[in-house]
Amino acid sequence: MIEMIWAMDENRLIGKGNLLPWHIKKDLDYFKRKTRNKVVLMGDRTYRSLKHYYKDKKLPFEKIYVANNEDHTGYPDAETVWDLERFLEKADEDLMVIGGRTVYEVALPYAFRLYITYVLGTHEGDVYFPDFRLADFKLVKKEMEERLIFAVYERI
Ligand SMILES: NC(=O)c1ccc[n+]([C@@H]2O[C@H](COP(=O)([O-])OP(=O)(O)OC[C@H]3O[C@@H](n4cnc5c(N)ncnc54)[C@H](OP(=O)(O)O)[C@@H]3O)[C@@H](O)[C@H]2O)c1
Repeated sequence: MIEMIWAMDENRLIGKGNLLPWHIKKDLDYFKRKTRNKVVLMGDRTYRSLKHYYKDKKLPFEKIYVANNEDHTGYPDAETVWDLERFLEKADEDLMVIGGRTVYEVALPYAFRLYITYVLGTHEGDVYFPDFRLADFKLVKKEMEERLIFAVYERI
C-alpha cells in the first residue's frame, strides 16, 4: 500500500528554500510518529533537506528510497530510484511517500491513504503542492490543533 504525508498551508505552500516554510513542533512530532521505522520514498531535494534537519543523526526510517534523475554517486543510507513511475507500478512493499512536490505529483495516482496536515494561514515560500482531486478520497479522520488540522483520507 502506498501512503503519502505532507503539510501545506491555505495556499498549498509546502516549501521554502528547500526547507519547510514554518517550524511547528506538533507538525514535526506528527510526521515523526507517522513515518518512524517505515519504508519511505522521497526526492533528492527532500533527502538533502532532511539531512539538514537531522545533521549527523541517522534518519529514523526502516528503509529509504530516493528518486533521482541525475548521475549522483549514490546515498550512504538510501537506495536510488531512477525510474520513479516504474518503481511505483511495481512496488510490492508498503511505502510512505514523504515529498517533495515533484515526487508527490508522480506518486499521487498510486496513493491509497493521504496524511494531510493543514497549516492554518498563509506563509512565504517557493514550493507548492500540485493541484489534485481530493474528491477521489474520503476523509476518515480529523484532529484539530491550535494552528493545525491533521486529516487522513483514503481513496474511494
Ligand atoms: N511540507 C511538507 O510536508 C514537505 C514535505 C517534503 C518536502 N517539502 C519541501 O518540498 C521542497 C522540495 O520539493 P521539490 O519538488 O523541489 O524536490 P523533491 O521532490 O524532493 O526532489 C526533486 C528531485 O527528485 C528527483 N526526481 C523527481 N522526479 C523524478 C522521477 N520521475 N524519476 C526520478 N527522479 C525524480 C530529481 O532528482 P535529481 O535532480 O537529483 O535528478 C528531482 O530534482 C522543499 O522545500 C522541501 O522542504 C515539504
